[in-house]
Amino acid sequence: MPESRCLQGIWSSPWIFIFAAAGSAIGLGNIWKFPYMLGEHGGGAFLLIYCLCLVVVGLPMLMAEVALGRTVRSNPVDTVNDLAERRVVSKYWVVVPYVAGLTGLLILSFYSVIAGWAFAYSRRAVTGTLEQLNTVQSEALFQSFLNSPVEMLLWHSVFMGLVVIVVGQSVTRGLSNVVRILLPTLIFVLLLLAAYALVVGASADAIGFMFRLDWEQVTFDVALSAIGHALFSLGVGLGAMFSYGAYMSKRMSIAKACTIVVGLDLLVSILAALIIFPLTFEFGISADSGPSLPFVTLPIIFDLLPAGQAIGLVFFALLALAALTSAISMMELFVSWMHERFYIGRLKSAFLIGIGVWFCGIAIVLSFNHWDTKLLFDLNLFELVDNLTSLILLPMAAVALSVLVAWVIPEPMLKNEMIAKNPKHFRWWYTTLKYVSIPAAVLITVAGWIGV
Ligand code: PHE
Repeated sequence: MPESRCLQGIWSSPWIFIFAAAGSAIGLGNIWKFPYMLGEHGGGAFLLIYCLCLVVVGLPMLMAEVALGRTVRSNPVDTVNDLAERRVVSKYWVVVPYVAGLTGLLILSFYSVIAGWAFAYSRRAVTGTLEQLNTVQSEALFQSFLNSPVEMLLWHSVFMGLVVIVVGQSVTRGLSNVVRILLPTLIFVLLLLAAYALVVGASADAIGFMFRLDWEQVTFDVALSAIGHALFSLGVGLGAMFSYGAYMSKRMSIAKACTIVVGLDLLVSILAALIIFPLTFEFGISADSGPSLPFVTLPIIFDLLPAGQAIGLVFFALLALAALTSAISMMELFVSWMHERFYIGRLKSAFLIGIGVWFCGIAIVLSFNHWDTKLLFDLNLFELVDNLTSLILLPMAAVALSVLVAWVIPEPMLKNEMIAKNPKHFRWWYTTLKYVSIPAAVLITVAGWIGV
């Protein structure tokens, strides 16, 4: 492999890979999106299907992406170009990493806006605006925030600035140190809040809603969004996990590392739901109120807690940080590629890409207020980009990367890779990837295209 394509630095300990990957996986998808999706799709049955999707689609695809990264120790663009040059795959494959990279940037354009909401709410906790809110006031506060594009734009800009600065540093240096502290703190705060919400809220209703299987709620659509969200929540398909795998030590079992990441990701999602739903039912907030749900519900719990505003500040700041550690992985593919291929400095690459994403984010900001117009299929711009990325582009890119591993890379080469210590686990993964995960993700992409 030419020198320029070799990545420098291997994670100094296996746990650093786990922290980096969990940092990418855990973010707004768990704390903001998962609870409102659960609310919209009727609770228990969605949760069960979602868990199933995490295990049979998400985990095998995550392992495939990491394994590919570790095998080739390069970036996705150069890897596919190499394979195409050597005629191992057709030349059309070279579009795959670009689609993956662009999907990351598209996701980032709305992700950054929502992360900005977390910043704005941290500030509100400091200024006391979140104090003594009843349900109606909390909803009104959120609505007035949505109606102020300038404030949203300001926080979107702050967030994008941070992403550029962090991605501009070397991944091995910057990311893992932050996540090592952030993740345990976030889980600790979530555990405390969940315990409190279960005590003060309508816990029986919430538990019933989250764990009772009501099969009538389950439609084909619900199952499809569960697969899409499993991939989104794990951050599979964008080449980020590929890059982190490229820095991973050869001695680490990929199965073990990825199972821990999936477990942590699910834990955070469930904790977030355990905080939100007891309050939702207690205070008469509609469970299916969509993206506003966490932002309307959470201020209420902070108000009930002693020193609640301080806890609110910590919580929203942690949420913004968790979003940051996810966001940097959305940019990583193009930044490392520009750096390794064209020798453009990481900071400069991140800045150039960041400007483009920032502009797209402006349109997303406006789609919550002045430009809340239905553009296609009765969806506004934010909803369109969200659906396009998680129901079509992300699964498509994840399928393509998985096909490389399952059907193109020779099996003996993978066996040398220590994907799993136990040969039985290797078989389980390989067969599931080939015959279950890939077909399921193809199904969702096709269904997404035909607009089911
Ligand atoms: N997994 C992240 C979250 O749940 C979002 C993400 C998507 C990150 C795609 C990387 C790639 O918030």
